[in-house]
Amino acid sequence: MAEVVIVRDAEAAGELAASVIEQVLRDKPDAVLGLATGSTPLTTYAALAARRPDLAAVRAFALDEYVGLPEGHPQSYRAVIAREAVAPLGLDPAKVRVPGDDGGPLAGAGDRYERAIAEAGGIDVQLLGIGRTGHIGFNEPGSSLASSTRIKTLTEQTRRDNARFFDSPAEVPKHCLTQGLGTILRSRRLILLAFGEAKADAVAGAVEGPVTASLPGSVIQLHPEVTVIVDEGAASRL
Ligand code: GLP
Repeated sequence: MAEVVIVRDAEAAGELAASVIEQVLRDKPDAVLGLATGSTPLTTYAALAARRPDLAAVRAFALDEYVGLPEGHPQSYRAVIAREAVAPLGLDPAKVRVPGDDGGPLAGAGDRYERAIAEAGGIDVQLLGIGRTGHIGFNEPGSSLASSTRIKTLTEQTRRDNARFFDSPAEVPKHCLTQGLGTILRSRRLILLAFGEAKADAVAGAVEGPVTASLPGSVIQLHPEVTVIVDEGAASRL
């Protein structure tokens, strides 16, 4: 059963998540971090950056990436991770990977990413947000619970939700590369954050509903070490 902590707001959640990550780093200064994108992890990155941890030896892997954006697009997750996590945290860019960033062909990119994670010794702590469809990473409903990093098609709901980051809804890519649910479950520790009432159904399903591919976040129930950090809105249907 996941540990669920209800906090006042996103800032308090960020502080708590940062303290969990700090603890992991105390035990293992060369820990491997799993980074998430979207608006949810931003307060965690800010809180962690304020603590000025020494992350020189840390390696990191992003959860997911859009497929089909022009190289260098500011909303590619490669650019977002560089701007919102790598720079403020002082991570070594050479030690940070995003799916599909190895310059190789798209075919096989998922398997190559899985190999890179395995060669790094696996992910020690994975940050997760959750989409309104219940997706984690970009594992939309219907994703295999055992899936590995692969290409997926985004749902219309997710494309609409993410349109706020783009100039027009049509610009939101239709496909992505995402760590699979199996990949996420192989991380040694998970921290799932969610804020606001719009996430309440997804959070309730993930924490208390049946473990089902219809609500991919529910796989967290199969993991032995999960901390769910939510505000009152996101907790309102628990
Ligand atoms: C995005 C990302 C997810 C993220 C989720 C929630 O599409 N691929 O990793 O957790 O949707 O986004 P937000 O945090 O902006 O609500």
